[in-house]
Amino acid sequence: MSVPEAKVLCHIDDIEEGASKGFLENDAGHDLFFVVKRKGELYAWRNACPHVEGAPMAWRKDAYMDAKKVHVTCHAHGALFESKTGLCVQGPCLGKTLEKMPIRIDAKGVVSILLTDIH
Ligand code: FES
Repeated sequence: MSVPEAKVLCHIDDIEEGASKGFLENDAGHDLFFVVKRKGELYAWRNACPHVEGAPMAWRKDAYMDAKKVHVTCHAHGALFESKTGLCVQGPCLGKTLEKMPIRIDAKGVVSILLTDIH
């Protein structure tokens, strides 16, 4: 059995505290998913707002966090999501959650995702 191939995304230190970074941009210029750093931990979410199915969330490249750098936000209608859980805590999709993406971080801090997990 072969080992699934992984796509290297970045190093854990490439994303600053409270910042976010998008990955795998499509032809329309929208990232497939994004990674945020909150309290030193990384969390990855699909770039698809639960308010409007499949709606991209950033207003410009890598802009997935609110001004306070605490919550993930969808800039279409201002929904706020917990960075750690993806739960919407304010806005039109209150109570719904973002779809988690299964990133991996190795002992050297290299962040990757298995190609089989990208769809
Ligand atoms: S599409 Fe995200 S809040 Fe409306």
